[in-house]
Amino acid sequence: MKMRHLGWTLLVLVLLLGAAAGGIVALNLRGEDPLPEQAEAFDATPQQVERGRYLALAGNCAGCHTTRGGQPYAGGLPIETPFGTVYSSNLTPDVRTGIGSWSSAHFWRAMHNGRSKDGRLLYPAFPYPNFTQVTREDSDAIYAYLRSVPPAPAPNLAHRLRFPYGTQAALAVWRALSFKPEAFVANPGKPAEWNRGAYLVGGLGHCIACHGSRDSLGATQAKLGLSGGLIAVENWYAPSLADPHEAGVADWPKADVVALLKSGVAPRGSVMGPMADVVFRSTQYLSEADLAAMASYLKDLPGAPAQQPAPPARAAAAAPARRDAGTMARGAKIYDQQCAYCHGDQGQGAPGAFPPLAGNRAVNMAQTTNLIQVIAHGGYLPATAGNPRPYGMPPFGQVLDAAEVAAVLTFVRGSWGNDSPPLTQRDTMRR
Ligand code: HEC
Ligand code: HEC
Ligand code: HEC
Repeated sequence: MKMRHLGWTLLVLVLLLGAAAGGIVALNLRGEDPLPEQAEAFDATPQQVERGRYLALAGNCAGCHTTRGGQPYAGGLPIETPFGTVYSSNLTPDVRTGIGSWSSAHFWRAMHNGRSKDGRLLYPAFPYPNFTQVTREDSDAIYAYLRSVPPAPAPNLAHRLRFPYGTQAALAVWRALSFKPEAFVANPGKPAEWNRGAYLVGGLGHCIACHGSRDSLGATQAKLGLSGGLIAVENWYAPSLADPHEAGVADWPKADVVALLKSGVAPRGSVMGPMADVVFRSTQYLSEADLAAMASYLKDLPGAPAQQPAPPARAAAAAPARRDAGTMARGAKIYDQQCAYCHGDQGQGAPGAFPPLAGNRAVNMAQTTNLIQVIAHGGYLPATAGNPRPYGMPPFGQVLDAAEVAAVLTFVRGSWGNDSPPLTQRDTMRR
């Protein structure tokens, strides 16, 4: 009897949910006025094409729309998400497989409203929740540029997403909850430079795609801002840009922020992992004026403690660090043998070559994900005009076992003035 009752309740619930989802889908799929099928005459000026090339760099379009060694913008790069694999699309002007038959209005609708030419809802692995803020003028310039690249006949690959994430209905529900096309609104109380920075960071730069939290549906949570986020699957932590203990730059000279984005290194930080990629493919190409604008905006973010890590790790970080003498001694020995010749016997580093580990906030952060990554896989600073032949760090994944990685990191986090909680073998086994 109880079972029957439960069965009915469930059935009613499912029907109600179904009806609600159906309504949402209908609302989302209703679409706007259909766009003309044919591309309109679009006479791009050379200046517009050049502007578009620059803006495509600011948005790192090639980073996702080019496979390793593949033709630029031909798509096909697999992007791993917690829900499965999404493949980027062909953005070259090939008429059959790329966007050769798209009008500038189709392109703008994709950027602004996340719909493909045929009206299909696009996956937010394409950062249109950010690109929605890009102006029509900038969208048209990028469109003009993409029409100028060599066409590549490369059909788009089918995404491989787990049910129900692969359905348009799931996307419609997600969009109803988390996405609204919107225009960038300048803050009249701030200088023009700040507003330019806000436009670049929040729009094309899509910094929040990594530096923000995501909800259970994978949507970035705009209200939490750039307060730090774990990058799923890749397993890196993009630290909070609002927290001075993480990646906040409120107390950095503006020129240092520009240097970090331009060359990957600054007196108090160096980029690694996914951020090295961002500098390598995107920010190094931006003008000094645009980087200065981004720096103004970043420096003015309201300071707030990071949202990540979860409370237990935060509590551990707050408690006085207790280190085991045996672990420290083992760590010191490994450090002397494997690390000191680059990072210095006092963790002081070598200016222009090897980052200091003493007083380094990447070393002392509560989230230790990136430390474990850089030890296991090594790291290369991006080669940039400002730092053309960067030094690298070799991978230690085959050299040190989990206990040794824990010991050397415990030592590094507890020496030369660093006073951050130790790591255990459990922490370092995850790799
Ligand atoms: C973080 C990765 C990423 C970045 C950065 C990115 N894209 Fe994409 N883009 C994708 C993915 C993945 C898709 C496929 C989405 C889908 O099919 O639902 C896509 C789809 C698109 C589409 C729709 C194509 C079609 O056939 O429907 C357009 C247009 C597009 N991107 C343009 C751009 C432009 C312009 C930029 C740079 C300003 C850019 N993208 C940057 C990942 C990215
Ligand atoms: C693909 C993911 C990704 C994107 C997009 C991204 N970041 Fe990062 N960022 C990271 C990760 C991971 C780190 C931590 C590793 C490190 O310290 O370099 C980081 C670190 C940083 C740091 C701290 C560097 C240091 O050494 O103190 C700054 C500042 C930063 N990012 C700014 C930005 C800005 C501005 C943007 C947008 C233009 C951006 N990031 C976009 C992943 C990303
Ligand atoms: C051959 C020189 C070399 C050796 C040996 C080396 N490193 Fe590094 N290390 C580097 C370079 C170069 C970077 C910057 C890489 C980057 O930013 O991608 C770096 C980065 C780091 C970082 C990140 C610092 C930051 O500011 O982001 C840590 C932590 C680190 N190393 C620890 C170690 C430890 C522990 C060892 C020994 C097990 C070690 N390194 C051995 C050259 C070295």
